[in-house]
Amino acid sequence: CGIVGYTGPQEALDVVIAGLRRLEYRGYDSAGVAVQTRGADGQWLLATDKRAGKLVNLEKSLAETPLAAGTTGIGHTRWATHGGPTDANAHPHLDDHRKVAVVHNGIIENFARLRADLADRGHTLRSETDTEVVAHLLAEAYDGDLAEAMRAVCRQLDGAFTLVAVHADAPGTVVGARRNSPLVVGVGDGENFLASDVAAFIAHTREAIELGQDQVVELRPDGVSVTNFDGTPAEVREYHVDWDASAAEKGGYDYFMLKEIAEQPKAVADTLLGRIGTDGRLTLDELRIPDQVLREVDKVVIVACGTAFHAGMIAKYAIEHWTRIPCEVEVASEFRYRDPIMDDRTLVVAISQSGETMDTLMALRHAREQGAKVLAICNTNGSTIPRESDAVLYTHAGPEVAVASTKAFLTQLVACYLVALYLGQVRGTKWGDEISSVIRELGDAPRQVEQVLGTMEPVRALARSLADARSVLFLGRHVGYPVALEGALKLKELAYMHAEGFAAGELKHGPIALIEEGLPVVVVVPSPRGRSILHDKIVSNIQEIRARGARTIVIAEEGDEAVVPYADHLIRIPATPTLLQPLVSTVPLQVFACELATAKGHEVDQPRNLAKSVTVE
Ligand code: G6P
Repeated sequence: CGIVGYTGPQEALDVVIAGLRRLEYRGYDSAGVAVQTRGADGQWLLATDKRAGKLVNLEKSLAETPLAAGTTGIGHTRWATHGGPTDANAHPHLDDHRKVAVVHNGIIENFARLRADLADRGHTLRSETDTEVVAHLLAEAYDGDLAEAMRAVCRQLDGAFTLVAVHADAPGTVVGARRNSPLVVGVGDGENFLASDVAAFIAHTREAIELGQDQVVELRPDGVSVTNFDGTPAEVREYHVDWDASAAEKGGYDYFMLKEIAEQPKAVADTLLGRIGTDGRLTLDELRIPDQVLREVDKVVIVACGTAFHAGMIAKYAIEHWTRIPCEVEVASEFRYRDPIMDDRTLVVAISQSGETMDTLMALRHAREQGAKVLAICNTNGSTIPRESDAVLYTHAGPEVAVASTKAFLTQLVACYLVALYLGQVRGTKWGDEISSVIRELGDAPRQVEQVLGTMEPVRALARSLADARSVLFLGRHVGYPVALEGALKLKELAYMHAEGFAAGELKHGPIALIEEGLPVVVVVPSPRGRSILHDKIVSNIQEIRARGARTIVIAEEGDEAVVPYADHLIRIPATPTLLQPLVSTVPLQVFACELATAKGHEVDQPRNLAKSVTVE
């Protein structure tokens, strides 16, 4: 969910709505606002509106029935957890006397008991949400100091939550509380902001304070004070936000996703920048884990979710090959529940674009408890996952707004390769020569991605022609297998159609039964150079599926003539070492999914039911 709060001289509603627009990527099931205003009798009260569906529904409602004016307010854009996306379940939630309004991101785990207790004490709860209990509890606890009331309430709550509240009797004050999911203060001049992400207030100020775990902030136009849940003053970290607002605008593209796909050469280049020395060796000074510790690592474990997990699967091939260190990769949501084996010689790599994914955060906390070293690969400066890790390697993709990840994925791959190569470099494996040549090839990746992007028109035409397909399968071997999974994921996310990725060799063990006349099957073909046995095997797989009626869409490197007779559609990518091929082979799959979804009439930036950063487990 996305949260915004404002207090200052401006019309709060305008600031809050503009902020919510920037945060809609965090959820768009419903949206709502509350503003402090004066009634006809001069009494302070709260004016609110909230609507199911995207932010535009709320904006339409506000255009029809404008909210009373006011200069302090809060807003919310929701990704539903407890209670479906209805008007009633939308935030803000109010107490019985409409004195307190609360917005919330996260889950309050003990809400059922709190709710029952409140009902026993005579409160009427109007929604199915866990959030509403907080409004009632705050109303009970309020005794002239909203921050104190918030601290008292937070001490009763279990779970992960970020809360922001206003009280009609505390004009000019906004109070926020943070446990786990993020909350950032924007420090202005005579005005202050509160939001889940700096994007919400970057148009007003670039000075920010990141709230820490279990802290409460009180915002007034002329000041900000931060305390811990027990009331003691908290230490805060102020920082300057260095990306500008235009980086989060569409820049002439119809969708953020198109813009972000097009930005990939730069994102890859930025992520490599300064990390390959003129002598062809890597320098990752920011790692902060001493080389000696890296030399002693005897196991690497990668945890991540969604697209980042696919980057992790590719990293496993690279790490094991170049370093000979055993590497496991697991979806973060499964990791801690199976009692994984780790010790102080285990390096856990947590990959996350947002740095906020709760599943990944919980996995890394578990890893640290077991004594493992944690390295985060992350795109969001100052977010929770890097802050709680021993070290971080930032991807420099810039802000990614479209929910389905594209440029962040490519930069995650680059970061994974850098980590694998660096481990190989410090440990001096027998692949020394190969490592040097791969480092050189990696430097060429931005140009190769650019080249692929320049040849995508036939892929778009193909995607449009397949808009009515019922299902699309994706096959790959070696690193092409996670690429196939990623191609299928993109299609599921954007086109809402059945799409599945398989290891091509596994096809014959079951999924081949799915092949029928005309079924589109995308095959990612490894380079015929190097491990040519892999290439030969997949060429056989293409023949097997074609013999059963599949319509083959083959992604193969330039000069690979062996695939030509079996490809109904051939998509060419530049020749590159097999381990690096995902940097170029993923791009056509992104374009394919984006175009196919658009042809179906879907809005690709905000697919249904999804959110860009999922801060619940
Ligand atoms: C959500 C997004 C996915 C993303 C995953 C992991 O589910 O919809 O696109 O891959 O989270 O996100 P992270 O920010 O941790 O990379």
